[in-house]
This record gives sequence, structure tokens and C-alpha cells, in this order.
Amino acid sequence: MTVTTGASGTPARPTVRGEVVPAAFDDVARTYDLMVRLSPGYHEQLRASAAALVEALPETAGRRPVVFDLGCGSGASTAALVHALRAGGRDADVVGVDGSAGMLIQARRKRWPAGVTFRQADAETLGRDDLAEADGVFAAYLLRNVAARDRLLAQVHDVLRPGGVLVVHDYSVRDSLLARLSWHAVCWGVVIPLGLVTAPRSPIYRYLWRSVLDFDGVQRLADRMVKAGFVDVESRSASGWQRGQVHTWRARR
Ligand SMILES: C[S@@+](CC[C@H](N)C(=O)[O-])C[C@H]1O[C@@H](n2cnc3c(N)ncnc32)[C@H](O)[C@@H]1O
Repeated sequence: MTVTTGASGTPARPTVRGEVVPAAFDDVARTYDLMVRLSPGYHEQLRASAAALVEALPETAGRRPVVFDLGCGSGASTAALVHALRAGGRDADVVGVDGSAGMLIQARRKRWPAGVTFRQADAETLGRDDLAEADGVFAAYLLRNVAARDRLLAQVHDVLRPGGVLVVHDYSVRDSLLARLSWHAVCWGVVIPLGLVTAPRSPIYRYLWRSVLDFDGVQRLADRMVKAGFVDVESRSASGWQRGQVHTWRARR
């Protein structure tokens, strides 16, 4: 992984305010998995980021490691973690956390191995009571939706055991004109029209478009992690057609 630096762009306002994002996800929860299935490479990219977490998961001397999946949604990222743990020959308790009751209903409906549980909490106000001491934290497509990003990163740093690993997976196009242009094309050519079919009354897919344009550049988010106390901060871009759009950041307490 490498940390890249680039020019900053102009912020754009999202159409769903940060504090109501989980409620907006309630409205699309039943069709979210369908949208994900229509997004080529979505699961593979999540698995690659989850594998980056598992390969850095500290040894726990016989104790079962604990991994949180913050913003677990309907469980796609949780499934990626389960897959990566299995592939890496590791066993762990996995706790999916999300603010949307509707997304959690979809997640809980799925078949999970022992040790996978879900709970509802708001990442804007997440406290020690919502999390236990953790060996790993995965946050896929969450941080962009959180206004109190520095506070959340500090909170995650606080609950991670020394040596514990944080992996963030999200879109970030601010540092690259090419990525911003292709993001506009993907959203207006595919995502927003499909969203009109699967969830006609929801603003969430237009919010996705604007929120990605508004989100931190790769280096800015890496800097936030350093500010929160993380070390060994690194990042890499996804492979395939979303190269430059989707990124993985990894950091250690
Ligand atoms: C795009 S979905 C991603 C779900 C899953 N991680 C995946 O990779 O498919 C983002 C999720 O973050 C959740 N979310 C957004 N803001 C949140 C907040 N402030 N607190 C908790 N969850 C939040 C939403 O409810 C939604 O389920």
C-alpha cells in the first residue's frame, strides 16, 4: 500500500444530511442487496479490504480476537470479513454495528457462523459502551457518511487494543480529476438510474454521488488517522474498473 497526495477539489453538498443517513438507509434496506449485486466487483473489493485487515490482525495467544464491522449495513462487509477470516485461517468474534434498523434486519436474516452478532448504534455518537476492546475494526462505506469523523477515529483508536488494526474502505475521488470524471459517469450513467428503479422515492443514490465528491482525499483521511493516534498508516486503490475511485486505508494502534 502507498499513501498518495493530490490536489484538493471543491466540496459539494450532499442531499441527505449526515445525521439522517441511517434513516435514509432504512428506506432502501430491502433493495440494497439488489443494488450491490448490480455493482460489478463490489464483493471482491470488500473481500480484498477485509483480507488486508485479517493479514494484520494481531495474534491473541489463544483468546478469540474481536473484530467490529462499523456501518455493517445489510452484512456485505460482514460477509467479506467472515470470508477473509476463513481464508486466513483465523477465528474471531465479529460484531456488525449500524445505525439503520432496516439494514440490520436484512443483515440478521442471513445465515452466519457462530460468533457473528449485530447491534444498532450511531457512529456519530459511538461511545465505549457501544464497543468492546477490539483487535480489529473494519469500516466499509461508513466514514464518508459521518460528520464527526475525527471523533469517530479517536473513539476507534481508543477501543482498539495496542497493535490492533483499523481498515477503512470507501470511495475517494477528490485527489484525481480522472476519478471524479469517471465517478460522475458511473453515477449518472448507472447508479442513479438504477436507484430510480429500485427505490424511486429515495434520495440516497444522489446523496451517494454528492457525498463521494464531498469526501476527503486519500491523503486527508490518512492525515486524520495519524491525528487520531494511529501509526503505520497506508492506503491502496482498488484494482479493476474502480481503480482510483475505491480505496483501502489500513492503520494500526
Ligand atoms: C453504503 S452502506 C455500506 C454497508 C456495508 N458496510 C457494505 O459494505 O455493504 C453504509 C451503511 O452505513 C450506515 N451508517 C451511515 N451513517 C451511520 C451512522 N452515523 N451510524 C451508524 N451507521 C451509519 C448506514 O445505515 C448504512 O447501512
